[in-house]
Amino acid sequence: MEIPAIGFGTYKTSESSGEINPTAEALKTGYRLIDTATMYGNEHSVGEAISRCGIDRNKIILTTKLNNSDRGYDATLRAFDKSLKELRTEYIDIYLIHWPASEADTSDWRKINASTWRALERLYQDGRCRAIGVSNFMIKHLEALESSAQILPMVNQIEFHPGYRQPELTEYCRAREIIVEAWSPLGRQRVLHSPLLQSIAEAHGKSVAQICLRWEVQSGVVPIPKSNNLDRMRQNLEIFDFTLSAAEMESIDTMAPLGFSGLTPDNISRHLG
Ligand code: A2P
Repeated sequence: MEIPAIGFGTYKTSESSGEINPTAEALKTGYRLIDTATMYGNEHSVGEAISRCGIDRNKIILTTKLNNSDRGYDATLRAFDKSLKELRTEYIDIYLIHWPASEADTSDWRKINASTWRALERLYQDGRCRAIGVSNFMIKHLEALESSAQILPMVNQIEFHPGYRQPELTEYCRAREIIVEAWSPLGRQRVLHSPLLQSIAEAHGKSVAQICLRWEVQSGVVPIPKSNNLDRMRQNLEIFDFTLSAAEMESIDTMAPLGFSGLTPDNISRHLG
């Protein structure tokens, strides 16, 4: 199975009727990797866009993610069926555990993640998803999972952008051939004000956002930018007509930390209330 080098993120894309359906526009623009999650509350409109777009279903790589409230073997299987219905599809291309159960939630976190993962293995073995993986798993969560897993995760989707590249985790995944996908690849726009990125952007006649996305692709990571704006959707795909030099890559790799969303597996349940 191959996945595109860049995808379209749907978190916080606009949903209300009368506005554009961002997924439909993204498909028209050329995106073929579409990333949603039960937690985003938009599987229905993503499914609508996919079923109406006129593109063969097998040309689209659709990702969704198991919600935190559905962890555990039986609950995962039920949640998967519900996602299929919402998304109006018979299979999911990439099914991810959205956040690991972690120490801050319960001392049983290892067991819970292991039984959730067993359900994903079953879905994969039954041919109901083409790839299975995780999201926001730190090294300790991956190590724990590996001790009981029959199949290793194929993807880990993590926060990744200039100034926050989680190098140890990324290396760990690379060594196991786990594809790293980047959520918040533009660092929620904070990175757009970086003077270093601005000067590189000027040198290439590109926007800072395009420099971020290109740096991610050249780092071997799959960025999943989101946008409700057609011009920016298009712009974010136009990153394959230039190359960052080794020196430019290095300067972004080593730039000062720019902060991150603040969300971690240990505090996500507090954030979600
Ligand atoms: P908008 O929907 O108005 O385009 P991240 O994915 O890092 O969380 O960042 C998402 C934010 O970045 C969204 O608010 C989106 O706003 C904005 N964004 C997406 N693409 C671009 C771009 N090419 N230039 C500037 N901002 C962008």
